[in-house]
Amino acid sequence: MPSPNPLKAVRGTRDLLPPETALWNHIEQTARAVFARYGFGEIRTPIFEVTELFARGVGEETDIVSKEMYTWEDRARAQSEKPQSLTLRPENTAGVVRAYIEHKLGETGQLQKLFYIGPQFRRERPQRGRYRQFWQIGVEVLGPPSSGSESPLRDAELLEMLATLLDALGVRNWQLQVNSVGSSEDRKRYDAVLRQALAGVKDRMCPDNQRRAETNPLRVLDSKEPADQALIDALPKIADSLGEDSRAHFAAVLAALDACGVRYTINPRLVRGLDYYTRTTFEFTIPDGSGLGTQNALLGGGRYDGLSEMLGGPRAPGIGFAIGEDRLVLTLQAQAEADAKATEESGAPHLAEMWVPKLDAYIAPMGVERNAAALALARELRRAGLSVEIGDGSFRLKKSFEAADRVARHIVILGEDEVATSTATVKAFATGEQIKAPQADLVQLLRHR
Ligand code: HAM
Repeated sequence: MPSPNPLKAVRGTRDLLPPETALWNHIEQTARAVFARYGFGEIRTPIFEVTELFARGVGEETDIVSKEMYTWEDRARAQSEKPQSLTLRPENTAGVVRAYIEHKLGETGQLQKLFYIGPQFRRERPQRGRYRQFWQIGVEVLGPPSSGSESPLRDAELLEMLATLLDALGVRNWQLQVNSVGSSEDRKRYDAVLRQALAGVKDRMCPDNQRRAETNPLRVLDSKEPADQALIDALPKIADSLGEDSRAHFAAVLAALDACGVRYTINPRLVRGLDYYTRTTFEFTIPDGSGLGTQNALLGGGRYDGLSEMLGGPRAPGIGFAIGEDRLVLTLQAQAEADAKATEESGAPHLAEMWVPKLDAYIAPMGVERNAAALALARELRRAGLSVEIGDGSFRLKKSFEAADRVARHIVILGEDEVATSTATVKAFATGEQIKAPQADLVQLLRHR
C-alpha cells in the first residue's frame, strides 16, 4: 500500500521551533518588562468573537473585514442556543474595547492601560513578513475623558514607550511616521473633499480604487497600486481638512515628542487600514533591505476616540498599537546577519542561538552501568539551579565530547573510578582545563560566573 503524503501546516501558518523560539521569548520578556515600567497590565481576550464586532469596529469596507477574515457559521448545540456567525480575530483592539465595555471598566474612572501578546488571523496572500496566522504584541490605553484618555500626552507617552522598547531590543534604523486623521467630523469634511477630487481622476485608477472612491474614499490613500501612486499623491491632504481642535491636539503630540527627543516624520497619507482611527495615527517602519522586504511596517496604531460608542459602550477615547512580532523577529535576525557579515565572522551564530545560553554542564556516563549515577548527579545539580544535560553510557568518549561542546560549558565525566570515589572529571571548554573534583564541590565549580 502506498504511504500517504505527510500532512503539512496550512499555507500562511508555520511552526516556530527552537532555537528561534528563544528569540521570541526574549522579545516577549523585554516587552513585558518595558510595559511593567509604564504601569500596564495584561489582558487576554478570546481568539474568536462574534463577526459583528469586527464589522462594526474595524469597518465593513476595510480589506480586513471585506476579504481577509476567517468566518464561519457556528451551529447551535442546544435548543437554548442560536446559530451565530463567528470570526477568528484579525486584530485585538476591537476585542479589548468589547471587554472594556462588557466588564464596565469605565466605571472605575481610571485610565485602563492594557497589553496583549497573541496570534491574529487574516487570509492575506502569504509572503515574507506576511502570514495568515501572525503574532501581535499590542497595547491599548483607554478610559473616560476625565481619566485623561484624550490628552495628547497619552499619544506622546505611548510613542516614547515604543521608541524605548525598540531601542531595548536593539532594533536599529526604525522610523516613526505620524499623521492626524482628525475627528469624525473632520473625516466627514475630508470625505467630501476627497470624493470631489476623486471624481475627476478615479477612472484612471485600478478597479479596486474605483470601488473605494465610491464606498470609502479614505481607503484609496493606503492603496499600494504602483500605477495609481502619482494620482494619489496629488489628492488633497487630510491636514487641510482638520478642525482647530484636531490641529491643536496633533501639534501638542508633536511638541511632547520634540521635548523627549523622539524623532518622527509626518506622513500625510498615513490613514491606516482600519476605520476606527481618529486623530493621531502612526507606524514604525524599517527601511528596505533590512529583512522585511515590502512588508516594512513593523507596527502600527493610533487613536480611536469613537470606537467604544460604535460598539454600544460609553464614551471612552483611547489609543494603542500592535507590533507584528513575526516582523520584529525577521528584523532582528537580518540585523544580526548583517553584523556577522560586517565583522567577517565565518559561521557566525544564528541570532536566535545567541539567546540560548549554553548549559552549565553535560554529564557523560562511561558505560551504561553509570547511567543511574549520572541521573542522580544531574538531579542534585539541577535542584541546585544548574542547567544540565545527560548523554548516555552507550556513547563513545569522542561522541560525548562533541555533544557536550555543542551545548554546554563543561563536560562532567563519570567513569567507574569516579563513581566509586564520589568524584567527577570536569573539563571547562573555554580554558581547556581538566580536573578531578569531589562531587560535593561540583555546584560551586560549574556555576556560571
Ligand atoms: P495593523 O496595522 O493592521 O493594526 O497591524 C499591526 C501590525 O501587525 C502591522 O504593522 C504588522 O507588523 C503586523 N501584521 C499585520 N498583518 C500581518 C500579517 N498578515 N502577517 C504578519 N504581520 C502582520 C492593528 O492590527 C491595530 N489593531 C493596531 C492598533 C492597536 N491600533 C490601535 N490599537
